[in-house]
Amino acid sequence: MAAIVASSDDAIISKSLEGVVKSWNIGAERLFGYEADEIVGQSIMTLVPPDRHDEERDILERVRRGEHIQHYETLRQRKDGSEMWVSLTISPLRNAVGVVIGASTIARDMTERRRADQHRITLMGELNHRVKNTMAVIQSIAAQTLGHASTLEEAREAFGSRLINLSKAHDLLTRESWQSADLREIVADTVRPHAGGENRFQIEGPSIRLSPSAALAVAMALHELSTNAAKYGALTSEKGRVLIAWKIQGEGAGRQLFLSWRESGGPPVARPTRKGFGSLLIERALASELRGEVRVGYEITGLECTMVAPIPAGEDFLGGRSGQSGGAADSDRRG
Ligand SMILES: Nc1ncnc2c1ncn2[C@@H]1O[C@H](COP(=O)(O)OP(=O)(O)O)[C@@H](O)[C@H]1O
Ligand SMILES: [Mg+2]
Repeated sequence: MAAIVASSDDAIISKSLEGVVKSWNIGAERLFGYEADEIVGQSIMTLVPPDRHDEERDILERVRRGEHIQHYETLRQRKDGSEMWVSLTISPLRNAVGVVIGASTIARDMTERRRADQHRITLMGELNHRVKNTMAVIQSIAAQTLGHASTLEEAREAFGSRLINLSKAHDLLTRESWQSADLREIVADTVRPHAGGENRFQIEGPSIRLSPSAALAVAMALHELSTNAAKYGALTSEKGRVLIAWKIQGEGAGRQLFLSWRESGGPPVARPTRKGFGSLLIERALASELRGEVRVGYEITGLECTMVAPIPAGEDFLGGRSGQSGGAADSDRRG
């Protein structure tokens, strides 16, 4: 029995009814940081944070009455002063005639499990707000798509392709644990379904990270630009091309991302008389999400869309770094 106690990974401690430590195994040394000869003979309160002394007094009282305490989770203090969550099991120790003379305590470190629990709660909160955000986005896509389509067939097609685009952007973000996504990959993923096997898209620009909300906004805007190009613009003609180019301009706090979408080789373009969901998403949602400016030019040679967005000082991230914390207070909460 002594060998089992000595080699146990759990801290196994015995104490008198006055709370004096009587024995201390290797597990206890590892958990609390005290060697046996430093703590045996000392008060058990050495291990109890000051604000929990009443709790320990209560435990000793219950043991004195012969009670057995199972898996009691509480905070204890290591030799270095740091606190940790432990699970305690406390049993009365009796002498030969059955009188309670002390208590044995088995303490198990719960820090990891507590951390995992906390992590799970954070993730659930995170998931909840992402799902709600997505629902809101889908709701607005549905309302706009149904409101603008002239036939049910057209609505079905537009709605479906918008959702597929959104889900691809989610895949990309999930691969990056919802930290950020690379603009290059967002562009490539979004235009791929419209590329039609040929090299209709020319994509030029450095790697730049976007926050999750910025990534979704850019993906949705590029999707609208692509479908518009295929419906009305350069991609309606065989020789039509689209150049998508971006660069970072300026220094320090004044750094900006400059992105341009330029169509050529399509039919002559005129300023439209009506604007739909595409224009709304491109000109308003994108601009507000990136806190930047978006301009759409209906040049006769092809549609041109330019976007300028600030890159906040000290950040290598577009759309704010607050999403990084992994906490619930992140910028993606916005619409
Ligand atoms: N790439 C383009 N080339 C020429 N005209 C375009 C292009 N993109 C959009 N337009 C014009 O702008 C209008 C508004 O586009 P949009 O807001 O996406 O609504 P929708 O696609 O539902 O018509 C289109 O109806 C079209 O006349
Ligand atoms: Mg459109």
